[in-house]
Amino acid sequence: MALLPIVQYPDPRLAAKAEPVVVFDDALRQLAADMAETMYEAPGVGLAATQVGKLIRMVVIDISEEKNDLHVLVNPEITSRSEEIKECEEGCLSLPGLYEKVKRPSFVTVKAQDLKGEFFEMQCDELMSVCVQHELDHLDGIVFIDHLSQLKKSRAAAKLAKRRKEKAREEKAKRENR
Ligand code: NI
Repeated sequence: MALLPIVQYPDPRLAAKAEPVVVFDDALRQLAADMAETMYEAPGVGLAATQVGKLIRMVVIDISEEKNDLHVLVNPEITSRSEEIKECEEGCLSLPGLYEKVKRPSFVTVKAQDLKGEFFEMQCDELMSVCVQHELDHLDGIVFIDHLSQLKKSRAAAKLAKRRKEKAREEKAKRENR
């Protein structure tokens, strides 16, 4: 197992569309295990392959508090969305420290394959619904702030850039005090 570096916004890889998985082999299972480890370590509740620089359609999700309910979705597709919309605050490991409210359908049904290529279906509500939609967006090159108005999005991107600068400054100060 290995921790993988998480691609940071606005890296162009986060805007790329991922390719379907066609081979279900040990390398795929290893990548899923490494992605799960990276997600738990971060910590986060979801991670898409595109966020670790692999442009393939796979995401890992675990919204449980105990971190013992891992879902690996390969070639996931949303097959139905509720008309009801809900607004929920979202964050992303590729945009750390940034939290913004995003409107999405309250319920979705998702069809996906597991690591052996077997198809399964999931009915998602609440946080699972938000998380599935957020992660699947990543496979199409969409990050959560893309759902905001242009004004809110540029404000959010500026906030993120400022936070990053502050963090770099803090780390530099830490190094110099050593
Ligand atoms: Ni994300």
